[in-house]
Amino acid sequence: MSYFRNFERINPFSARERSLTKKQKELFNRYSEEMKFDSFKKISWKKTPDQKNILEIGFGSGEIILKNAKQFSDNLYIGIEYYKKGIAQLLSNIESENLENVRLYYGNATLFIKNIDSNFFDEIWLMYPDPWPKKKHWKRRFIQKSTIIELSRILKFRGRFLFFTDNSSYAVWGSKHILANEAFKYLAKKPNDLKITDSKYSGSKYQKKSEVLGVRTYYFIFEKVFQ
Ligand SMILES: C[S@@+](CC[C@H](N)C(=O)[O-])C[C@H]1O[C@@H](n2cnc3c(N)ncnc32)[C@H](O)[C@@H]1O
Repeated sequence: MSYFRNFERINPFSARERSLTKKQKELFNRYSEEMKFDSFKKISWKKTPDQKNILEIGFGSGEIILKNAKQFSDNLYIGIEYYKKGIAQLLSNIESENLENVRLYYGNATLFIKNIDSNFFDEIWLMYPDPWPKKKHWKRRFIQKSTIIELSRILKFRGRFLFFTDNSSYAVWGSKHILANEAFKYLAKKPNDLKITDSKYSGSKYQKKSEVLGVRTYYFIFEKVFQ
């Protein structure tokens, strides 16, 4: 079975694709086999007893993965993106920092999560996903009943799902969908808990953009409370 039935039409909606420089093309091509789903299945993941497995969906240019992978070298970071230029930027940083604890997947996260083992991740990050603000496009939002079921399956018991958005409509949509799944519990107890306190999660391109524009971000952290 091919995980890439739709590979040629990976991102039919995005207008974000920009042309790659010659160096970025070379990097992307060099790692393209490694970034296919099938190569993930051949990897022996467990490197250290303390290793945590972290997944970032739609990492953009990868600022947060980079920052964390440098700081927590025992952890494994898996990033999924279909924005080639962002992938090439992160690959370039991974090379220059000699990081061995990051794996990237080029493709649609919706397909990826369906094929991952259950109870694999300690944390899953979804930061500033495309908000698709028009009602007729809500079906394109990453958060849907079906994706939340998969996320709850691949997250470990007591694992955390971080969802950050600066779009109030998506904040309501996202939190409703996530809490409709009884595997997830909302960790915030008071309004201030919706602010980010841990600097390891801050500094993504879109977070910086919304700060410059003075737009409020909603930081949701959920915990998986059922096996
Ligand atoms: C608004 S950007 C945010 C990027 C980054 N998280 C940040 O905070 O700067 C959303 C990113 O998610 C990626 N994306 C959206 N849907 C995706 C999907 N189904 N699979 C993989 N990547 C996706 C887009 O290509 C885009 O780079």
